Amino acid sequence: MTDTTPPDAATGSPDAPGTPNPTGTPNPTGTPNPTGSPDPAGLPGLPEGVLRAHAEQQYAAELAAIAAHDDRPRPPGWHLSPWAVTTYLHGGEVDGTPITPKYVGNRRIVEVAVATLATDRALLLLGVPGTAKTWLSEHLAAAISGDSTLLVQGTAGTVEEAIRYGWNYARLLTEGPTDKALVASPVMRAMTEGRLVRVEELTRMPSDVQDALITVLSEKTMPIPELGSQVQARKGFNVIATANDRDRGVNELSSALRRRFNTVVLPVPATADEEVEIVHRRVTELGRALELPELPPGLDEIRRVVTVFRELREGVTSDGRTRVKSPSATLSPAEAISVVTSGIALAAHFGDGTLRPADIAAGITGAVIQDPVSDRVVWQEYLEAVVRERRDWADFYRACREVSG
Ligand SMILES: Nc1ncnc2c1ncn2[C@@H]1O[C@H](COP(=O)(O)OP(=O)(O)OP(=O)(O)O)[C@@H](O)[C@H]1O
Ligand SMILES: [Mg+2]
Repeated sequence: MTDTTPPDAATGSPDAPGTPNPTGTPNPTGTPNPTGSPDPAGLPGLPEGVLRAHAEQQYAAELAAIAAHDDRPRPPGWHLSPWAVTTYLHGGEVDGTPITPKYVGNRRIVEVAVATLATDRALLLLGVPGTAKTWLSEHLAAAISGDSTLLVQGTAGTVEEAIRYGWNYARLLTEGPTDKALVASPVMRAMTEGRLVRVEELTRMPSDVQDALITVLSEKTMPIPELGSQVQARKGFNVIATANDRDRGVNELSSALRRRFNTVVLPVPATADEEVEIVHRRVTELGRALELPELPPGLDEIRRVVTVFRELREGVTSDGRTRVKSPSATLSPAEAISVVTSGIALAAHFGDGTLRPADIAAGITGAVIQDPVSDRVVWQEYLEAVVRERRDWADFYRACREVSG
């Protein structure tokens, strides 16, 4: 395989997780926290002007319909049975209500992830960038706990307080260490409330911060020596962590921690059709959420973006005839979604209302050429050897040539 991506080629995805919460403050965004209502049907609608709804807000109606017809046993603290959670994620129909697929791919992957969370082991979603790790973890938390907002964002600067707890210093100075002066981390809140907590990019955290999770996962307890007390996790508590394949070696998971996780590897989409479906579905949803002018997403152009990305990723054309070099960029469905969404914005605001090759050419070129020297060579070669030869790709070839200069 000709995969030459450097380890730090993490890419922006159209679905950046909510708000990083490095301080461990419970609700830094001030977004309404739906935790008061255990029943997804009772969640308030999306407040005016909010750019991105949490999964449990956006899919409240689906979750309610599934819950109403879910008579299978639910693990303690769960809002739905494992079967119902899988239906929510994989899609289908419940008593006339269509359930949109959230995760497109092998159903078994979802089943293993859901089953893991019903045990005392935590779940680690591993994969290359843009393979829906964050997306799946948000939807798992929404379906299982009715709340996907308990989140710790792992970065090199994440401190132990983000996993354990911090202090309100004004109170600490006047009252000393008391219950009220303590600021619970999302992990601590998940323990007391019996919910799932998400830990994003686990392997980017310094190792000693990661290790703060060991006691939590093995003893299900978080000691608070300053108060001489501890928090014991309630039923329903568990951890979903995500880690990027490409970050391997940044801060390797300690073996003590690794043993407490079941790892599920999320693959890149198996077939082009699957990938087209993912991109088409997300682009349509995003366009609606961003209130872009109505525009049919243009399946032909989506297929073209997906074809280019798959060929560059795999190092060979879809007919298996021509070998091509792979650029350093990841080129996952996440990048394809960005390219098509920007293309739609271009077409809607500056074009004739139809998504055309010229609208995606700039996006594709930008996504492929991350390294201005080596990637540019790879892209030029691909343009000349593959794109130029395809009869019905002439417009696209011209548009790309214009962008690349
Ligand atoms: N198999 C899939 N099913 C549904 N959506 C997918 C799939 N693969 C990718 N996506 C879409 O790709 C986008 C990016 O996914 P996400 O941000 O979860 O990736 P990630 O694996 O967390 O990446 P990173 O490692 O960069 O954080 C999401 O909009 C998601 O819907
Ligand atoms: Mg992610």
